[in-house]
Amino acid sequence: MAHNLLQGKKGIIFGALDENSIAWKTAERCVQEGAQIVLTNAPIALRMGEINKLAASCNAPVIPADATYTDLDYDFYHKGLDISAMSLHRVLQTAYKLDALNEWASVVALTYIAAQRVFPDYSDMADAKSMLESISRSFGYHYGVKNKVRVNTISQSPTRTTAGSGVKGFDGFISYAEKMSPLGNATADQCADYTVMMFSDYTRMVTMQNLFHDGGFSFTGVSASVVEQMEK
Ligand SMILES: NC(=O)c1ccc[n+]([C@@H]2O[C@H](COP(=O)([O-])OP(=O)(O)OC[C@H]3O[C@@H](n4cnc5c(N)ncnc54)[C@H](O)[C@@H]3O)[C@@H](O)[C@H]2O)c1
Repeated sequence: MAHNLLQGKKGIIFGALDENSIAWKTAERCVQEGAQIVLTNAPIALRMGEINKLAASCNAPVIPADATYTDLDYDFYHKGLDISAMSLHRVLQTAYKLDALNEWASVVALTYIAAQRVFPDYSDMADAKSMLESISRSFGYHYGVKNKVRVNTISQSPTRTTAGSGVKGFDGFISYAEKMSPLGNATADQCADYTVMMFSDYTRMVTMQNLFHDGGFSFTGVSASVVEQMEK
């Protein structure tokens, strides 16, 4: 159901690869709520993915942009940090210098709880997500002071997408989280709804936060369902 929450707002959605992508669902929901959007993704993702289908249904232009500096010789780890964390800094810094965002604009990046707690198979992405959340806080301070721009991260449940399925042992991972979360895992559609809320004026005073959107997983020590499983 649409409520025109984003009427008159314009924005950029990064990373819609296919219809499983959280960004894809967020783009659709933003348009339903009255926003005008531009879509962007890495050039290879434009060739391999289905973004043009989304562009047509959302009446949105598509701009290719690779979030890395491709002319430098990074090692793998450095590259991971670059794509998954420094990319946020780069986007914010560019917008800041160009004064591209309106007052009270809202920037949302997606993260995972491996930034706070150890999930061994998430490996170096955990470091990247910690850095992403830190950039969101630090830059959020400066952008808030300069122009009342808000910067937050949403820490989403494990979700079946191309990126999510790349994590080793993902099936075990997702069913463990499902059993541990009082409300169950949050879906990509629900994440899109929450992101729309974060883009809307109803959350104007929320900034520099890491917001868990995980059905309660982050604050559950252990659930009855997991204990039951252990007793079998
Ligand atoms: N799926 C999960 O379980 C889960 C959980 C928590 C957080 N997240 C985060 O949600 C975000 C969206 O991922 P998703 O799960 O929707 O998967 P996805 O694979 O659908 O989306 C990832 C996107 O990143 C883009 N991308 C990769 N390298 C790029 C580059 N160099 N330049 C520009 N774009 C690039 C890809 O083309 C793709 O569109 C990611 O930050 C992910 O870490 C995902």
